[in-house]
Amino acid sequence: MQEQIDKYTSEIKAFTAAKAEELEAFRIKYLGTKGIIKDLFDQFKTVGPEEKRTFGKVLNQFKQLAEEKYNEFKESLDSGVKSHDSSQDLTLPGDGFEVGSRHPLSLVRNEIIDIFKRLGFVVAEGPEIEDDWHNFSALNFPEEHPARDMQDTFFVRKGEGNDDIALRTHTSSVQVRMMESGKPPFRAIMPGRVYRNEAISARAHCFFHQVEGLYVDENVSFSDLKQTLYHFVQELYGEGTKVRFRPSYFPFTEPSAEMDISCTICKGSGCNMCKYSGWVEILGCGMVDPNVLENCGIDSKKYTGFAFGMGIERITNLKYVIRDLRLFSENDVRFLKQFQTEII
Ligand code: DAH
Repeated sequence: MQEQIDKYTSEIKAFTAAKAEELEAFRIKYLGTKGIIKDLFDQFKTVGPEEKRTFGKVLNQFKQLAEEKYNEFKESLDSGVKSHDSSQDLTLPGDGFEVGSRHPLSLVRNEIIDIFKRLGFVVAEGPEIEDDWHNFSALNFPEEHPARDMQDTFFVRKGEGNDDIALRTHTSSVQVRMMESGKPPFRAIMPGRVYRNEAISARAHCFFHQVEGLYVDENVSFSDLKQTLYHFVQELYGEGTKVRFRPSYFPFTEPSAEMDISCTICKGSGCNMCKYSGWVEILGCGMVDPNVLENCGIDSKKYTGFAFGMGIERITNLKYVIRDLRLFSENDVRFLKQFQTEII
């Protein structure tokens, strides 16, 4: 028996496994239910008491040796490291690991936030599941306004009259929540995700991101609105970017406007990003309609304010020349990696 054990001991000590199959063969040979160790233990049962004392210890040590050898290779094979491969070149560089990067929408959102923070705006947020009051009624949407239509809005619950619960269609709802729950002055920007029942294409998506802005105080005028947004554009797209305001209509602002900037790609000379007009629209804005102030419990004789809302995707497209909205939500690492340099 001693002889047998000595022979197997040197075999085990010399054993190496480069592949899982070799290790499995080792396990079956020594540690398997019909293996050598089982056989030695069976023989052990038949020896006399004197031999039992000496062999008991030897046999247990032998079993331990086989188990240790097995575990050692199992670990290194599992982790893919060939610790006993003497041909391994230790001077090779180690495995690099991937560094994450910020999503372009987060980069641009943070940049927008930073610019407005420097002007004294605070950041506020509101729920993505909204009721009709905050998303529409308080914002002065007429009863039959098409934006309330099933085609634009994802309803969570269709209620009686104005009881609907829906995914918010814009971040203007956060204005209402802010004004209802505090006292003027308000000076806030409100970033967040919004939802619309649209077919997904390069230029439309069923969810996207907006930043809403609100400034309410005594004597806030349209010139404050223009100057604030002008400054914002210079900071975001660089000095010399031109702006222009066109009259528009939103139920919650009066007067309302849309703001264009000189095309950031062609600098106004005309390209397919600006449809050869030299201008691109980036946001909607206006003076908060007195009805909205009153709906939120604010005295519209004493206070005035301006508001604006912009799509973060649009701002990002113009900054990085991205032409397909779907890229933002597909999480294709080849796309996301391109923003790696801006990690903070
Ligand atoms: N809520 C508008 C939209 O989703 C954007 C907007 C326009 C917001 C004018 C405003 C505003 O605050 O004054 O299209």
